[in-house]
Amino acid sequence: MQNSQLMSAKVLEKLLNGSNLDKSFDAVFNSSKSKSIDIQESQIKALTYGSVRFLGKSRFIIDQLVKNKIENRTVECLIHIALYQLSQEKFNNFTIVNQAVDAAKKIDFRKSKFVNAILRNYLRSKDDLHALLNQEQVAKFSYQNWWINKVKIEFKNDWEEILEIGNQHPPLTLRINKRKINIEKYSETLINNGLEHQIISNTGLIIKNPLNINDIPGFLEGNISVQDFGAQIATELLDIKRDQKILDACAAPGGKTCNIVEYANVDVTALEIDEIRVKKIVDNLRRLELNANVIHGELCNDNLWWDGEHFDRILLDVPCSASGIVRRHVDIKWLRQMNDLKKFSEMQYLLLKSAWPLLKCGGKLLYVTCSIFSNENRDVMERFKKDFIDANEIELIYPNNIKHIKNQLIPSENHDGLFYALLEKN
Ligand SMILES: C[S@@+](CC[C@H](N)C(=O)[O-])C[C@H]1O[C@@H](n2cnc3c(N)ncnc32)[C@H](O)[C@@H]1O
Repeated sequence: MQNSQLMSAKVLEKLLNGSNLDKSFDAVFNSSKSKSIDIQESQIKALTYGSVRFLGKSRFIIDQLVKNKIENRTVECLIHIALYQLSQEKFNNFTIVNQAVDAAKKIDFRKSKFVNAILRNYLRSKDDLHALLNQEQVAKFSYQNWWINKVKIEFKNDWEEILEIGNQHPPLTLRINKRKINIEKYSETLINNGLEHQIISNTGLIIKNPLNINDIPGFLEGNISVQDFGAQIATELLDIKRDQKILDACAAPGGKTCNIVEYANVDVTALEIDEIRVKKIVDNLRRLELNANVIHGELCNDNLWWDGEHFDRILLDVPCSASGIVRRHVDIKWLRQMNDLKKFSEMQYLLLKSAWPLLKCGGKLLYVTCSIFSNENRDVMERFKKDFIDANEIELIYPNNIKHIKNQLIPSENHDGLFYALLEKN
């Protein structure tokens, strides 16, 4: 069995070189498979996720303990991984240090003493180091400086909680397929399987102790989907009526498309630009035994895929920074740069502009992001309303257990940090 710390260090190294986590895992796992090396993927993933959340702290600790820059990047990443483990009470310190020393020998035999010395030094001065790191915001909250400052400015009262929630494990939230089962019946199934849970709406519930997706009762049978509660409310906010013609304009992987089809008897078109992701929509619809018209095409000025018939409702769930879902995509907080927000907001404005002519007069368009930053949310909305005088924003009403400031959902234990805005065409 290959040392999980070493594999995790290789993934982290790729991430620090600018590759996202999914691609980094794929590259490392595929390389092991091609060499027939036996690895524990779930253990490596858990280790990497934890270390990436902890990265601001482990960088600070390394800066305190090591005078010169560590030349070997894999060794540096190995130290990040081991420091994360040592900071947690659930691991055995002695085993962690020994495993890290063994892993270091495989990278560069001469570095094993160095790794041993740093980790033991950390254990000796752990309390002092943690007291010190709490005085420095990047180390304390473990985000980039610009990100922390921006959250502070935009959320005067909630900034600390938002940053902290972003470092926690996300809830495992399920949406039941109303066409197949009701929430009471499904809750009974969970009880019979010994799975503690909390019902949060008439279609949503949170499982207390997360488990593998294929092990969730009824998943393979299409009785449920995994979907954040903040995302589940999109269907109600869109104000859908029976027999309406609905466009999900940025649809993959199809979470919201499926939710709409489960919700009411409507005619749904799901549009997606990315061919590989189109397959995900089709797979999800098939698993849930639902029907929609799935189109591989681009929402743009020309809209060549469109047959000219206007839609009653449009869901526009645009690509964004994903700053509202960092606890699920832990790499985001290190990969995103402040400049990216400008690029996203320009693209989001263009997508809105491309979707607007497809909407009937009197029809409604729901704009959605999973971002907490106003550049991609309120700013895009205000610019659009200024340029399109036939766009009228309608006030949205949220369920009581959704924490929000106006249309910005505040990431909480129950849900992620999405933004919604509903426009009606005059
Ligand atoms: C935020 S995701 C949508 C998530 C989806 N609504 C769900 O709930 O499962 C945005 C999607 O829009 C797609 N996309 C980006 N630009 C597009 C365009 N111009 N036309 C159609 N789809 C686009 C992306 O490939 C991506 O799959």
